Amino acid sequence: MKIMIVYSTTEGHTRAIADFLEEEAKKMGHKAGLFNATVKPPSPKGYDTVIIAASVHAGKYQSSIEHYAREYHRELNELPVVFMSVSLTAASDDEASWKELKEQTESFMLATGLEPDHTEYVAGALLYTKYDFFKRFIMRSINKKSGGNTDTSHDHVYTDWEQVAGIPAKLESLAASKRD
Ligand SMILES: Cc1cc2nc3c(=O)[nH]c(=O)nc-3n(C[C@H](O)[C@H](O)[C@H](O)COP(=O)(O)O)c2cc1C
Repeated sequence: MKIMIVYSTTEGHTRAIADFLEEEAKKMGHKAGLFNATVKPPSPKGYDTVIIAASVHAGKYQSSIEHYAREYHRELNELPVVFMSVSLTAASDDEASWKELKEQTESFMLATGLEPDHTEYVAGALLYTKYDFFKRFIMRSINKKSGGNTDTSHDHVYTDWEQVAGIPAKLESLAASKRD
């Protein structure tokens, strides 16, 4: 199977997840094309399946991925597509935050016309050591309020790598059911 992975990232963690996904897909014998949404990825034509990956910042996905999804939503909707949403909410069990995350994702779909076959919510990372002073201050304050991690001396990665490794298999079964 030829898998296209288009991602957007602000601090680099979704890029790390996309790199990992590319490796996992290759290990499973698939061909994978990895594209950063900020550098004009090609049309998904010629690929069998697609992963669209983006992270949430202040309730929104990156505008670069929104542009890509809007431009190619017709071609994408013909293919099996998994939307991978990366956020800190996905690491929490707060019902209200999950409701917001799902509404934010729904707004993204409405704005772009993208109709993914499946949305995978993946926990992101708190990269305190990579933030500038202002971002570190904001993120620490938010986490203090929400009961999250406030130790800024190192990064905190919440991603469940096994969950991510399961995405190519999900694409395989989506591709099989779309063929039937
Ligand atoms: C300034 C900032 C704002 C964020 N806003 C949200 C948010 O509104 N909701 C959420 O669930 N996570 C939020 N996050 C957490 C990010 O989604 C998480 O850190 C993710 O791993 C970032 O991925 P990236 O490195 O690919 O950009 C925010 C992070 C930062 C630094």
